[in-house]
Amino acid sequence: MKGLILSGGTGSRLYPLTYTNAKQLIPVANKPILFRVIESIRDAGIEDIGIVVGNTAEQIKEAVGSGSRWGVNITYIRQEKPLGLAHAVKVAQPFIGEDRFVMFLGDNVIQGGISNLIRQFATSDWNSQIVLTKIEHPEQYGVAELGEDGRIVRLVEKPKVPPSDLALVGIYMFDRYIFEAADSIKPSWRGELEITDAIQWLVDKGYMVHPYVHEGWWIDTGAPGDMLSANDLVLEEIKYIVDGYVDRDSKVDHRVTVQRGAEIINSIVRGPAIIGENTRIINSYIGPYTSIDHDVVVENSEIEHSMVLENSVIKDLEARIQDSLIGRDVVINRSPIRPKALKLTVGDHSKIGIL
Ligand code: TTP
Repeated sequence: MKGLILSGGTGSRLYPLTYTNAKQLIPVANKPILFRVIESIRDAGIEDIGIVVGNTAEQIKEAVGSGSRWGVNITYIRQEKPLGLAHAVKVAQPFIGEDRFVMFLGDNVIQGGISNLIRQFATSDWNSQIVLTKIEHPEQYGVAELGEDGRIVRLVEKPKVPPSDLALVGIYMFDRYIFEAADSIKPSWRGELEITDAIQWLVDKGYMVHPYVHEGWWIDTGAPGDMLSANDLVLEEIKYIVDGYVDRDSKVDHRVTVQRGAEIINSIVRGPAIIGENTRIINSYIGPYTSIDHDVVVENSEIEHSMVLENSVIKDLEARIQDSLIGRDVVINRSPIRPKALKLTVGDHSKIGIL
C-alpha cells in the first residue's frame, strides 16, 4: 500500500497564521501536524508516501525533506490550484499507479493511529474504507447515512439537516476505482471536485465502501479554536520529561515536558504543558494546556491554555494571556513610553480580545 497526504489548500480559516505559513506545519504540542500524520502512516507499515503540495510547496519540502528522518520515501506532487480533495486524488494518480492507498488530510489529528484500519483494509476485498465518527455539529462536515445493514446509503457535504451524526474523518482508503470516480464527477457549487461525490459515485456503481466508526478523538485543525482543542487533546498524553534546565526556585509539575536547551528560571509550570527547545521562562507562570514552542522568551508574564509559536517574546505583561494562539516571531510587551495606550502592529484578520 501507499500513503497520500494532502498538504495543499489555502488555509483561509486560519488567517493570519497561514498567510505566510502552511497550516499543516503549525505545531500541536510542539510537533507539526504534518509530522504527526507522516508518523501514523509510517507506524502502519507504509514506506512510500506522496505529499500533495500547493502554494506552500517550498516550505513543506524544506521541513519534511526526503523522509529519511522517519525511514520513509517521500514524493512531492504538485497541485497547481486547490480544486478539491478529489482533484488532489487525480493529480496523484501517476504516483499511486495500481496500488491501494490511504489518503490522509495533512491538517487532521486522530487518536490512536491508523495501523488497525490499514491492516483491515489491506486484507479485505473492499474498494474503499472511510472513517466516520460521531460529532455534535455534523452540519459542518461531510456526513454519512448508513442503512439498516450498516452499509453506506448516502454521503452529503455540509448538510443543513444532517441525516446522521456520523461525520467523515479526513482519512480514506481506496483502490484504483477512485480514479474512475474522480474522472466522472463534476465540480460542486463551490467549484471543487468533492471527495464525498467521488465516494458516492463508488457506492452508486455498487463498489464496496466499508464504513469504520472511530471511537477515540479526532480533530480537524482548520479553525483557531480547533487548533487549541487539538493541542489540549495531544497534551493530555504528555509525559514528565525534563531535558532542559529547571532552577531551584522553579516548580515544574508532573505532565510537563521541558525540551532540550530550555531554561525555567524562578517560574511555575503547571501541566499538561510543553516548553520547547532553547526557550526561556523567567519569573513567569505557565498554566495547564499550554505549548510554548522553541526559542521563545516568556518573562514576568502569565500564560495559560494557549499556544505560542517559535521565536516569540512575551514580556512584562500585567494581564494573563489565556485561550490564545500566538504566531511566530511575535513580540508582546509593556511599553514604558507615555501616553499609556495599546500600541499594536497587527496583521490582517488578527483577533485581539481586550478587557
Ligand atoms: P480544507 O481544510 O478543506 O481546505 P483549505 O486547506 O483550503 O482550508 P480553508 O477552508 O481554511 O481555506 O483542506 C483539507 C486538507 O486538504 C488540507 O490539509 C489542505 C488539503 N487540500 C489539498 O491538498 N488540495 C485541495 O484542493 C484542497 C481543497 C485541500
